[in-house]
Amino acid sequence: MTQLPGLLDTEAIRKDFPLLDRVVHDGKKIVYLDNAATSQKPRQVLDALNAYYEQSNANVHRGVHVLAEEATALYEGARDKVAAFINAPSRDEVIFTKNASESLNLVANMLGWADEPYRVDAETEIVITEMEHHSNIVPWQLLSQRTGAKLKWFGITDDGRLDLSNIDEIITEKTKIVSFTLVSNIMGTINPVDAIIRRAQEVGALVCIDASQAAPHMVLDVQALQADFVAFTGHKMVGPTGIGVLWGRQELLEDLPPFLGGGEMIETVSMSSSTYAPAPHKFEAGTPPIAQAVGLGAAVDYLTAIGMDKIAAHEHAITEYAVKRLSEVEGLRIIGPTTAEDRGATISFTLGDIHPHDVGQVLDELGIAVRVGHHCARPVCLRYGIPATTRASFYLYSTPAEVDALVEGLEHVRNFFG
Ligand code: ALA
Repeated sequence: MTQLPGLLDTEAIRKDFPLLDRVVHDGKKIVYLDNAATSQKPRQVLDALNAYYEQSNANVHRGVHVLAEEATALYEGARDKVAAFINAPSRDEVIFTKNASESLNLVANMLGWADEPYRVDAETEIVITEMEHHSNIVPWQLLSQRTGAKLKWFGITDDGRLDLSNIDEIITEKTKIVSFTLVSNIMGTINPVDAIIRRAQEVGALVCIDASQAAPHMVLDVQALQADFVAFTGHKMVGPTGIGVLWGRQELLEDLPPFLGGGEMIETVSMSSSTYAPAPHKFEAGTPPIAQAVGLGAAVDYLTAIGMDKIAAHEHAITEYAVKRLSEVEGLRIIGPTTAEDRGATISFTLGDIHPHDVGQVLDELGIAVRVGHHCARPVCLRYGIPATTRASFYLYSTPAEVDALVEGLEHVRNFFG
């Protein structure tokens, strides 16, 4: 068995994840390499969800009965856990949403409806990058269409990095918001946050970071990042679907208007007007995703017990090995950084002129789950003149043997298609 320095005890970890024992297609044990799409869930998270529904299910912040109080304590306890996980200065800066897309849409809409000095209007500019997931492109396009603000973006270099050579022309005195991904969901690139934030601060622009592909994999410290907003989702970090997070700086959350109205987010309501509850409740209209938050709290406990620095080291070792082994496959071209430096454990590639959907289908028959397509980051495919990629993405339970299985599978694909 291949041993690499920095690996976690995957034999022990994999015992926590029932799905990793799944057998598909006539007895093939699943090789799950689609972690950038969603992660598998450990028993600890599944148990927390079950325990919540079996023992404490009730609506939060409303009833005076014991179940309502327990549910509220569990829901708000999850907020405490997430706040500690990202080193938020205050638990009130953690807003629960349904996913990262909703978190990013929330920021765009806060700014769209805001008063000065935050208001985005026809005199102002919005900056994103060509490397974004559609969830960090479309909300800004919508905002730009609605307000007349100009949408600008950083391009990508041939080796899958952000091209910051024209940073002073892209981020200007007119820029109101710069929103970009910390780690690319298609290429795995880790972006240079400091350089972008420094320039944004120079011109007084707000910064929003999409950390969907970072929060599961590395230490995420919102105070060290120095951004204004950070968005991520629970299901990619061993938590359930249906729960996302938006962290925002407290004074911004106090000043900015809500987007969705309804129960939970108000202080008082009359027929002619309403006043709003303080953040985070101002931004959590309606019955929130209670069980999902509890599950996310359990996910945070699970990851914290292992240690995010150890998870990052494990993934770095796996990535280094995978990049090396994949580079040995004839005709394989990595789309994105071709070394393990400043990149995460998500690797996209093409294989000769075999269509990625065919690659994915043959791999599936071998029990290997990868994602194929444009990965909701179509501008990246357009940038490289390709219709799609095959994407393998690793996580804390991934092993060198799974990298080997992928490489053998790709050799099989090559032979299959001659
Ligand atoms: N955002 C997820 C992905 O990149 C779904 O696959």
